[in-house]
Amino acid sequence: MLKLALMDVKIRKINQDYQGQISQATALKELDKIFLELFGKSGLVDQLSKQFKTLPKDQLKTVGPLFNQVKMKLEEAIRVKREGVRENIYKSLENEKFTLQPSRLTHKREGHLHLATKFKQEIIDLFAKLGFEQFDAPHIEWDKYNFEYLNIPKDHPSKDMWDTLYIDTANLKVDPGQLLLRTHTSNFWPRLMEKGKTPIRAMSFDRCFRYEAVDARHSHTFNQFEIAVVGKDITMANLRFLSDYLLQGILGKEAKSRFRPKYYPFVEPGVGIDCLCVFCHGTGCKICSGTGWFEIAGAGMIHPNVFKATGLDPKIYTGLAWGFGPDRMLMLKHNIEDIRYFLEGDLKFLEKY
Ligand code: DAH
Repeated sequence: MLKLALMDVKIRKINQDYQGQISQATALKELDKIFLELFGKSGLVDQLSKQFKTLPKDQLKTVGPLFNQVKMKLEEAIRVKREGVRENIYKSLENEKFTLQPSRLTHKREGHLHLATKFKQEIIDLFAKLGFEQFDAPHIEWDKYNFEYLNIPKDHPSKDMWDTLYIDTANLKVDPGQLLLRTHTSNFWPRLMEKGKTPIRAMSFDRCFRYEAVDARHSHTFNQFEIAVVGKDITMANLRFLSDYLLQGILGKEAKSRFRPKYYPFVEPGVGIDCLCVFCHGTGCKICSGTGWFEIAGAGMIHPNVFKATGLDPKIYTGLAWGFGPDRMLMLKHNIEDIRYFLEGDLKFLEKY
């Protein structure tokens, strides 16, 4: 009997205390706090119902309904009070006079093009002046355009140079490994060459994808700008001219490039194009790791096997191609330390550039 009396008093006391607190509350925050104390995880309601387990059945019959009644009353009191508090807030807003401060009128928040979009336009305009036509190739691509026609046969070890994301073709009646996210923009020129319309003077600027562990310098999604020229007398001299044209166009007249021999299966000879460090002018600094140069592009003279695969005669035609990483160049130009900024909508970054 003692237990019952105690429990009974406890419940009534809680009701009294909290009804008082609820009626005095003036803010939604206070009501939230009260609600949690009562109904939250391990709140008073929870604690009490745990204590019921120790009560004999007949006593529970009396305390149970009282407990439920108090619970409902408290819940209802909080709900009604919440509405009242909200109502008061609306009323106070009605009386508030809105005036537009002059500073707000003059300081308009205007959107602008993304740094990478502006850079893309700049580069495309630069090459459009030389008569380069823009060409878009698919992002979801067949193996033949991304690899096979580019002299990278099936199961060839050089395929490992590109960490590839493959499309699951189980439901598409397509052999596994045939569809992929293009790993470079180099897929655009075998597509053009296959059409057989020469001469070709084309460019492509868009996204590429690789199976990369993402960090400050690597991203699964990145941009490339690529050009391809195919004709009857295309030589390394043209390649040199076009490399300097790009660098001087984006970095200024004093920019310089150098060629290093480098292997790419689809060009022969293949070169890595370096650019003289814009920060130390070749003396060596932290940003160029002391070498005085940055690698900015891969390039070369189109391999005879690419001509054969796409149906053009390598005895008649020659060609050049290069692929360049604009994201990396933008990072250098503006001292941006993390490539992930290009894909995220970080407002601080967007407003700064
Ligand atoms: N596609 C190469 C890559 O993504 C870059 C490249 C190298 C493009 C040599 C070219 C080239 O056109 O000639 O790694």
